[in-house]
Amino acid sequence: MRSVTIRTFLKKKEQNDKITMMTAYDYPSAQLLDESGIDAILVGDSLGMVVQGNTTTVPVTLEHMIYHAQMVSRATQRALVVVDMPFMTYQESPQQAVHNAAELMRQGGAQAVKLEGGTEIAPTVARLTEAGIPVMGHIGLTPQSVHALGGYTVQGRTAKAAQRLLEDAFALQAAGAFAIVLEVIPAEVAQVVTRKLQIPTIGIGAGPDCDGQVLVFHDAMGYTSSYVPKHNRVYTQLADSIRTATQSYIADVHTGNFPGQEHTLHLAPEELELLRRLEEPTTSTPT
Ligand code: KIV
Repeated sequence: MRSVTIRTFLKKKEQNDKITMMTAYDYPSAQLLDESGIDAILVGDSLGMVVQGNTTTVPVTLEHMIYHAQMVSRATQRALVVVDMPFMTYQESPQQAVHNAAELMRQGGAQAVKLEGGTEIAPTVARLTEAGIPVMGHIGLTPQSVHALGGYTVQGRTAKAAQRLLEDAFALQAAGAFAIVLEVIPAEVAQVVTRKLQIPTIGIGAGPDCDGQVLVFHDAMGYTSSYVPKHNRVYTQLADSIRTATQSYIADVHTGNFPGQEHTLHLAPEELELLRRLEEPTTSTPT
């Protein structure tokens, strides 16, 4: 299979061939997604919630993203590796954004970066793409702005809000973004944005008409005891498997059923003989 590039994304849109993306934050999960044929792996700043256990993505730093991006890019042979620029690593100025995106590429192995925001960050997106850094946009529910939005709520619910989303999408496209994530917006709005754009849309909680879909690994794999958003489909129940396996392990250790002979190393007979001699009581020599 050939590697996926940003050109693949555009071609897939032209050919009406859906794009698949999932988050990953470490080597084994990225390796498994890549082997399974996923188009893109997103090192999402959602790691702040699903891996670090925070309630928002706000505490995630550039160093955290580089650390996780390194593991993911090391494991990935085929999929496009997109890395989130975390909170306040691109909002201050286009220069700050170029500097930090370059670190994500140079140290983290990112092949593209993702930024949250619309019209207001278009000049930054333009500066990044002029510098040769592929950019994925992200509009709708933008989790880094959770405090400004007043919670994790559906966006674009009125015709006026939908119009603003469309303007944001056009601004990002004009600035050179190669794709845009649409998060938690009504399906009808996502359909209009998708139809109007030349670049692909990747939806999460944005209905079936986007050019592609993205899910958070831990939510899709049932690898969590925490709340999973309603728009997610749980494809397997890793949490149940892990709990059951852990309980079996605990029971096996308590009953002596683990380790068994097949997990146990033994000395060679001549070494065993020497060991036995060491165990024999030492006879004290008379003085
Ligand atoms: O951080 C993330 O995982 C994301 C996806 C929800 C698109 O931005």
